[in-house]
Amino acid sequence: MAKLTVKDLNVRGKRVLVRADFNVPMEEKDGQMVITDATRIEETLPTLELLIKQGAKVVVMAHLGRPKGQRDATLSLRPVAAKLADLLGRPVAFVDDCIGEKAEKTAEALQPGDVLLLENVRYYNEEEANDPAFAEKLAKGADIYVDDAFGAAHRAHASTEGVAKVIAKRGGLCAAGLLMERELKFLGEELENPAKPFVVILGGAKVSDKIGVIDRLLEKADCILIGGAMTYTFRLALGLKVGKSLVEPDKVEVAKAALEKAKARGVKFMLPVDNIVATPVKTDKLNKKGKPIIELTNPRVNDSLNIPDTEEGVDIGPKTAAEYANVIHGAKTILWNGPMGIFEMPAFAKGTFAVAAAVVEATQKNGAKSIIGGGDSVKALHQAKLGDKVTFMSTGGGASLEFLEGKVLPGVAALADNG
Ligand code: 3PG
Ligand code: MG
Repeated sequence: MAKLTVKDLNVRGKRVLVRADFNVPMEEKDGQMVITDATRIEETLPTLELLIKQGAKVVVMAHLGRPKGQRDATLSLRPVAAKLADLLGRPVAFVDDCIGEKAEKTAEALQPGDVLLLENVRYYNEEEANDPAFAEKLAKGADIYVDDAFGAAHRAHASTEGVAKVIAKRGGLCAAGLLMERELKFLGEELENPAKPFVVILGGAKVSDKIGVIDRLLEKADCILIGGAMTYTFRLALGLKVGKSLVEPDKVEVAKAALEKAKARGVKFMLPVDNIVATPVKTDKLNKKGKPIIELTNPRVNDSLNIPDTEEGVDIGPKTAAEYANVIHGAKTILWNGPMGIFEMPAFAKGTFAVAAAVVEATQKNGAKSIIGGGDSVKALHQAKLGDKVTFMSTGGGASLEFLEGKVLPGVAALADNG
């Protein structure tokens, strides 16, 4: 059933506790933490602007990184408060704690339309432990709970699940924010009965990360296109040689089962027909973990299903890219999750960018609905400057995958149904 949303609420003069996913990438520059991608903050603006316009007293809580109960200064949300104020064009109060007297007093002093951001909830171990007493403290004084943190909805934590229970128990409403609503619509409803042909593109390093999604989508898709290092585990399953490519030998049986299920269901399951390969060479430079940095040298097209013993597959090849683009051009619904190769390195990004271009073309020219399931594929689209040319891009990583697998997300289950 659809969830109650922030649009269904009367929030005037009420204290609304909002959970946002402000877990944004940051970098240290001249001793200061700087946000390098504010997408998740920007995507929450419609919910916050609606609450402000309707005269709610808005208290926002969020997590940043994984401080594991420590007050790690590099994981403070203070820079997010500044960015949020900038984007909203109005002051955003910030308190360096998410519970306690200072947080409570500041929240009490809010006027309708005011916004307060609380410090990182993960400075307390009780957050991830979903401690009921901690949830009570977070929920203190709140009339309504709005969850816009789709990216964190797969976590049953105090700020995503515990507070909802506390507020619902005392008769307060718990509703989805506008971003949460959109995520559930595009990754959920839209894929229930997709316009056909429905083409699913799955990449990334590991079969183990994606097998749940593959299994579920084999029930819906007309065609599944595989890329990324996950390819080589499928190739192992087919008895092919993978050279030095990244593989999961213990997932060969899982890969075989997926291939068989595809056959049985009449789903076209496509694996790359060629690859870009490179020779990995150990250098004497060390990485952050003190391990030798491996350089990928001598990149070339390997026009065979077998990869030579000394080489590693790093991207799909040009024939595969053309074949995949052709299938994508015929699609009416497209779901894409995971890059085709090591797209962070320009020499191995061509396959991912070719797929991105094909997805955009299918969207613009054929009216296909294109849904990008979060994580690295979103990063790749941004890198290719195509981010605004698809139908929907998820802000979730792990949450998108779990949701696409058909799992119930605790942060979603905690919200009231509409009707
Ligand atoms: C994410 O970025 O994946 C979400 O914000 C959740 O964070 P987590 O993976 O540390 O729980
Ligand atoms: Mg995560």
